[in-house]
Amino acid sequence: ADGDPAKGEKVFKKCAACHAVGEGAKNKVGPVLNGIVDRPFGAIEDYKYSKSLLEVGDGKVWDVETLDVYLIKPKDLIPKGKMAFAGLKKEDDRANVIAYLAQFNED
Ligand code: HEM
Repeated sequence: ADGDPAKGEKVFKKCAACHAVGEGAKNKVGPVLNGIVDRPFGAIEDYKYSKSLLEVGDGKVWDVETLDVYLIKPKDLIPKGKMAFAGLKKEDDRANVIAYLAQFNED
């Protein structure tokens, strides 16, 4: 289902303690998320990822489907990853936040 970026902006408040996105965004506890849709796993050069993320993500990109799976329950995709976030149970929340993030792929 296609997400609603405006609703996704509200969902992103749950991410914003650890992630920034948009012009001038910098790494926080988590890596900056500009261009995340179709970005390779672990691609931010000056961010220190977990070994687990780099192993699971070797040769993979964050396409919409993979983002959706990760955001259900991050530890299911990356068991020893360091994203301390329970996940988004609601499919709509996931679709909406992914649609919000996709807006920062286009500039
Ligand atoms: C990694 C998205 C919430 C901390 C990531 C990655 C994505 C992501 C896509 C992988 C980035 C890459 O490979 O470059 C999100 C979204 C969130 C969210 C959409 C909200 C729905 C959070 C929260 C925290 C957090 C709340 C902190 C409590 C991290 C950390 C990593 C990470 C530390 C690096 C993981 C590792 O190296 O294993 N996040 N995140 N994230 N996120 Fe989040």
